[in-house]
Amino acid sequence: MASNLLLVSEEKSLLKSVQEMSLDGDEPPSAYLVQENSFGSKDSSALIPIPIIDVSLLSSEDELEKLRDALTSAGFFQAIGHGISSSYLDKIRKVAKQFFALPVEEKQKYAKAVNEHEGYGNDTIVSEKQVLDWSYRLILHVFRKEKRRLSLWPENPSEFREVLVEYSTKVKSMMDHLLRTIARSLNLEEGSFLDQFGEQPSLTARFNFYPRCSRPDLVLGVKPHTDGSGITVLLQDKEVEGLQVLIDDKWVNVPTIPDALVVNLGAQMQIMSNGIFKSPMHRAVTNTEKLRMSLAMFYIPEAEKEIGPVEGLINETRPRLYMNVKDYGDINHKYHQEGKIALETIKIAHNNKDLDSWLK
Ligand code: OGA
Ligand code: NI
Repeated sequence: MASNLLLVSEEKSLLKSVQEMSLDGDEPPSAYLVQENSFGSKDSSALIPIPIIDVSLLSSEDELEKLRDALTSAGFFQAIGHGISSSYLDKIRKVAKQFFALPVEEKQKYAKAVNEHEGYGNDTIVSEKQVLDWSYRLILHVFRKEKRRLSLWPENPSEFREVLVEYSTKVKSMMDHLLRTIARSLNLEEGSFLDQFGEQPSLTARFNFYPRCSRPDLVLGVKPHTDGSGITVLLQDKEVEGLQVLIDDKWVNVPTIPDALVVNLGAQMQIMSNGIFKSPMHRAVTNTEKLRMSLAMFYIPEAEKEIGPVEGLINETRPRLYMNVKDYGDINHKYHQEGKIALETIKIAHNNKDLDSWLK
């Protein structure tokens, strides 16, 4: 705690904010520079297409098979036919951009506390070796409703709160539908995954703002990570690309499709699917030209509820790969701070080389 406070005040006095550096076109300080060997190749020329799934067609076997293939390979897909209108997606992008365009003092009213997750701000600094993300975030818990901390919810623009709740409600019903459909794609009972989210799952919104950066070759908007959620739905900027996913050890661009929502599985679905589905590694790059925004919605099982591999996905050739866990988000956070991979810590060891390569 004390050292954190020290680092933060040191940072304030020594460095300009990301927003100031962005406006002035400054050379980013070393704390933002990605070390070449820590993230693998920076090349992102791989031309692997990201699957596009029409959610309105998932009652057909063909589309269902496409969905299953997308989740067992890339772990990412672009959802179209999801029923949220183009003008509505523009509306949520607009209120997000309006909030970010407010003067710094206004945004600071919603600032997150140093050791907290929710609210407006940058990376929490936990170690001197940490590489910082070139971004600002606004993180808000939307569901369960009782968990909303309205003091951190912007009042400007005036429709911000209403739009966020309405969008979240739409995304939640799409996620429920997808989770039932994903179970069906594996010939499981429809509730096999969704029921594990509990009666009161959490839905957390994370608005990401990536200012222009003079050195996109050296600085990332968000470092490589896997989401600790069950499932994530991301609304990308309408024009500016930046999201990349790691497929076969190559960084692949996820193109912007104006009306599509990007869907990826988080670690908790990797656990529940007994490793059949992968929670993909992804990152966001920066650019010199334009500010980029995105909105990630994380759907997370109730913290009190134990989750684990679905019984129907455990058999002799595919033994149970993960222990049952509660509040994986908390475990994930703890190990992440120590630089460890949380999923590894709950993996059950089997003396079987096939399993190792299958899990890679
Ligand atoms: C995230 C994330 C990617 C993006 O918020 O977890 O991966 O494109 N964002 O902003
Ligand atoms: Ni992510």
